[in-house]
Amino acid sequence: MGKTILVTGGAGFIGSHLVRLFVNKYSDYKIVNLDKLTYAGNLANLKDIENKPNYEFIKGDIVDATFINELFTKYKFDSVIHLAAESHVDRSISNPLEFVMTNVIGTVNLLNAAKATWTQPTTNRFYHVSTDEVYGSLGETGLFTETTAYDPHSPYSASKASSDHFVRAYHDTFGLDIVISNCSNNYGGYHFPEKLIPLSIYNIKNNKSIPIYGKGENIRDWLFVEDHARAIDVIFHNAKSGSTYNIGGHNEWTNIDLIRLLCKVMDKKLNRAEGTSAQLITYVKDRAGHDLRYAIDSSKLQNDLGWKPSLQFEEGLEKTVNWYLSNEEWLNNVTSGDYQKYYQEQYVKR
Ligand code: NAD
Ligand code: TYD
Repeated sequence: MGKTILVTGGAGFIGSHLVRLFVNKYSDYKIVNLDKLTYAGNLANLKDIENKPNYEFIKGDIVDATFINELFTKYKFDSVIHLAAESHVDRSISNPLEFVMTNVIGTVNLLNAAKATWTQPTTNRFYHVSTDEVYGSLGETGLFTETTAYDPHSPYSASKASSDHFVRAYHDTFGLDIVISNCSNNYGGYHFPEKLIPLSIYNIKNNKSIPIYGKGENIRDWLFVEDHARAIDVIFHNAKSGSTYNIGGHNEWTNIDLIRLLCKVMDKKLNRAEGTSAQLITYVKDRAGHDLRYAIDSSKLQNDLGWKPSLQFEEGLEKTVNWYLSNEEWLNNVTSGDYQKYYQEQYVKR
């Protein structure tokens, strides 16, 4: 067996795609998936690979330092790919402390355990998966590059920025081999229906209103999740220690244009007359501190390591809609329990 890699947050949206890619592609690696299984984590996301011999799941909390230290001593991980996080901006506005605990303290616990147990700087690597939201908000022009100054606005992006700084500090101060990537908004299957695209698919399917914050003019740069997983693979294996890469799709959409396109796709797939789903669009109170525009310059990654997105957005969106419509059981399971109550409260509060 080759490397033993700890993937944190592997039962979440991006983590499950990454674990699937690594387990299937690298049969000589052992992939250990550590996940607390919060509302966003779901072992059903990994059903197809759960019995593979090079995969193991461990339920646990990265905030528990004793547990994390024992885990590192027991498993002697060669590397870590760290994705575990609280990831939803709206939840960070209602409960910032939860984001500090998992995203900041949890990351520092992992760094401490790595620092304490790693003795071979040439083979050990700490890969931190981060977001473009650390750079703040763009005006009408310009792109985020790897040298854009950090300027986070939401409790979520502030917690991710803080964790990025700690990861770099462990490189600069203790010589830990680290890599960070900052990616734009992802979309695809296995995405919990609270973020814009999966929530809207769920609501359209169930004839519920589609909440558009403010005027719908905010812009995001969307990347198909499997392209993000491929980028992490390339960066993990090839980047220089201490380096940072931006990952993005050169694919900017205002929220309202994106939702209009999604409505068209859904009308076709659900055999509804064109225009039916768009009637569900409902403008609601804007998100507090809502960043206007995110857009990524990923030319460093394309030039240095030859990565580029594989799908056009229209193709990726159709694939995503197909995934949700053919995985009804998954969707019903994740929207049972507290889900309905939570989302009703969110919109009543707005
Ligand atoms: P997600 O919310 O779908 O999954 C997060 C996972 O982390 C869940 O499985 C959850 O159970 C687990 N987790 C949460 N708290 C934990 C804890 N204390 N201990 C152990 N596990 C815990 O998130 P995602 O969208 O897959 O994002 C993964 C990573 O990628 C995050 O670090 C996020 O900041 C980053 N990111 C996300 C996007 C995006 O568009 N979704 C874009 C760029 C970067
Ligand atoms: P989201 O998917 O929450 O990702 P992020 O805030 O991390 O970019 O939101 C994407 C965009 O869609 C963002 O501008 C907020 C907006 N939005 C809505 O208009 N309605 C919604 O119900 C949600 C969840 C988001």
